Amino acid sequence: ETVEWEAASYDMGGHDTFMHKEISEQPDAVDRVLRGRIDDRFSTVHLGGLNLDPREARTIRRIKILGCGTSYHAGLIGAGLIESMARIPADAEPASEFRYRNPVVDPDTLYIAVSQSGETYDVLAAVQELKRKGARVLGVVNVVGSAIAREADGGMYVHAGPEVCVVSTKCFTNTVTAFALLALHLGRVRDLSVTDGKRIIEGLRKLPAQIEEILKTEEQIKEIAAEYAGAQSMMFIGRVRGYPVALEASLKLKEISYIHAEAYPASELKHGPLALIEPALPTVAIVPDDDLLEKNRAALEEIKARSGRILAVAHQEQAKADHTIVVPKNEDELDPILMGIPLQLLAYHTALAMGRDIDKPRNLAKSVTVE
Ligand code: G6P
Repeated sequence: ETVEWEAASYDMGGHDTFMHKEISEQPDAVDRVLRGRIDDRFSTVHLGGLNLDPREARTIRRIKILGCGTSYHAGLIGAGLIESMARIPADAEPASEFRYRNPVVDPDTLYIAVSQSGETYDVLAAVQELKRKGARVLGVVNVVGSAIAREADGGMYVHAGPEVCVVSTKCFTNTVTAFALLALHLGRVRDLSVTDGKRIIEGLRKLPAQIEEILKTEEQIKEIAAEYAGAQSMMFIGRVRGYPVALEASLKLKEISYIHAEAYPASELKHGPLALIEPALPTVAIVPDDDLLEKNRAALEEIKARSGRILAVAHQEQAKADHTIVVPKNEDELDPILMGIPLQLLAYHTALAMGRDIDKPRNLAKSVTVE
C-alpha cells in the first residue's frame, strides 16, 4: 500500500508540470482501478472492501453521493451510472450543503462519500454526522488510510496514485471509472443482464487504449486553446450524461486559467443563458453519439444562429461547430469517462498560453481540511 506513494511519484518525470504528467498517466491509472476486479465468469466485478453482501445490496432503496469540487462532479456522473445500470435512484450533492441542511437520514439509503485526499473537512464532517445517525456510509477515496477511508463502513480505493497538482485530473477519471465498477456490481446483483454486464466489461477494458488515443490529439487541442486563451468567459453545455462533464470541464478551466466559465444543461439554454451568446462568448459542447445526438445538434444550431463560436467534443465532426475534437466511442454509459479528458488538455493549454501557475492556482489548496 505504500508502493505507489514512493518519492519517485513526486518527480515530474520529464513533464513541465504535475498536471501534464498526471493527465498523461491516465491510461495506466485507469488500468489500475480495473485490475483484479473484473469477474468474466459472472460478468460482474468484485469489490472486496464494500462490506455489503448481496442481500444487503438488494435492500438499498436510494443512493446519495457526497463530495466537494471535482469529487462532487465525479459523484454526479457516478449517480447517473448507478441509475442506468443498477436502476437505483441516485443523486449527488456537495457535502458542504448536505451537512448544513439537517438532511433526512433514511435507513434504506446508502451514502457514498467521494474524496481524492480523504481529508476534506466538509466531507469528513458529513460522514461523521451520517454515522452518528446510524447511516451506512461507503468511501470512494484515493489516499489509502485517509480519514474518510477510516471513518467509512467500507468502500473502494480508486488507485489513481499520488496526485500533486492542486486540480484533479487522473483522480477524477479513476473515480468515475470506480463508480462504473460499483454500478456494474450493484446492477448485476439486481436486474442488469449478463449480456449487458459483458457489454460494460468490454467497454471498461477498452478505456486505457482509448485514453491513449485521446492523448494523441494534444497538438490539435493546443491550437484550439490558443484561440480561446483570450476569452473573457466561456460556456459549457451538455445533456444528461454530458452535463456533469460540462460542469467539470468548466471548473477545470476556471481553476487554472481564471477565465470565467459556466456550465448549463443544453436543454436550459433557452431559459436564460442564450441571452449571453455572441461571438465573444465561445461554447464548448459535449455531443456524444447517443439517443440525445439530435437534441444536442439542435442546441449547436441555436448557438450558431446567434453567431456563437463552438468547440464540440463529439464522436464525429459536427458541421455546426467551428472545431470538433473527435473522441473514440465506447458504450453510452462509459462515454463521459472519455469525454472529460480532452477538456483537461484544453484547460491546461489555455492556462499555459496565459502564463498561469498551473500546478498551484491562486487562492486554492489541494485539500481543504478546515471549515
Ligand atoms: C479542493 C481542491 C479540488 C478538489 C476538492 C475536493 O477544493 O482544490 O481540486 O476537488 O478540494 O478534494 P477531495 O480531496 O475531497 O477530492
